[in-house]
Amino acid sequence: MYVRVYDHPILGKMEEKKKVTIYVDGKEIEAYEGEMIASALVSNGIRVLRLTKRRLSPRGVFCAIGRCTDCVMTVNGVPNIRTCVTPVADGMQITTQRGTEEWGKE
Ligand code: FES
Repeated sequence: MYVRVYDHPILGKMEEKKKVTIYVDGKEIEAYEGEMIASALVSNGIRVLRLTKRRLSPRGVFCAIGRCTDCVMTVNGVPNIRTCVTPVADGMQITTQRGTEEWGKE
């Protein structure tokens, strides 16, 4: 299920924003400039953001305020980026993270 609120009963209508393109595991998706990576992914039906180190269990947005690290992904080659507090940028390359990953390793 895709979720994006364009007209919130309390916050009002979503203001017009510039669209950008990001790439998630090689798939091109549309996002709005200034929104958080995790928000763009959930809005596009992507709910698994990382896999745990030992069992490769799926994890997604949990706290959404940058505290739990369940949303970490590899962004532009840098692992362990908390996607719930990191805004998108045009052309950003994002990959689902397996385990903790380390700098310079794929
Ligand atoms: S969802 Fe908890 S740090 Fe991002």
